[in-house]
Amino acid sequence: MPEKLLIATRNRGKWEEIRELLADLPLALIGLDEFPHLPDIPESGSTFEENALLKARFFHEQTGMLTVAEDSGLEVEALGGAPGLFSARYGRSDAERIARLLAELRDVPTEQRTARFVCVAALVGPHLERTFAGEVHGRIRTAPAGANGFGFDPVFEYPPLGKTFAELTRSEKSAVSHRGRAFRQLREFLVLLLERERNPS
Ligand code: IMP
Repeated sequence: MPEKLLIATRNRGKWEEIRELLADLPLALIGLDEFPHLPDIPESGSTFEENALLKARFFHEQTGMLTVAEDSGLEVEALGGAPGLFSARYGRSDAERIARLLAELRDVPTEQRTARFVCVAALVGPHLERTFAGEVHGRIRTAPAGANGFGFDPVFEYPPLGKTFAELTRSEKSAVSHRGRAFRQLREFLVLLLERERNPS
């Protein structure tokens, strides 16, 4: 029975959110800090699902551990779905990525600033490959607000709360976010898997 789960991300913001989302599982959550020698693999897939699976398979093969990885991004309707799969490569820092996004949307009126965050989480172990998807719809603000979270959180408004993701606490964000939605499904799957391993019938 696996006692450990590798969370294969080097993104601090993602790690904190995923750790909280999976905290009540009877598994020790291991970070990539424990494997500093392992390289990152290029995200060469053409979908979030492919990239999540590529990462999870790679780190599972390297460590032998049950592994979860995720790929996520922001799709802005007025930009034809950009930055999408290339969200992390849209600029060199979060500030640069946000500045570029706001510049590209400069002349776009509020009602056309709709966007969604997408997340696909992949779970890979011996004889196991599963993916879980989540998304959340919102709108891109004209200026950043809030200091929590990471990435595009300061400009992504969640309309039902009238706040950006960076104005929410981590658990408020996870209750509605793309990552929260994907990882709650993954958690349910793991709970059943662990139960089945404990009581095979
Ligand atoms: P990747 O999954 O490592 O390719 O990177 C995803 C990128 O999408 C991040 O670097 C952020 O720019 C953006 N992103 C994904 N999820 C979130 C989120 O929850 N908040 C803000 N930005 C996000």
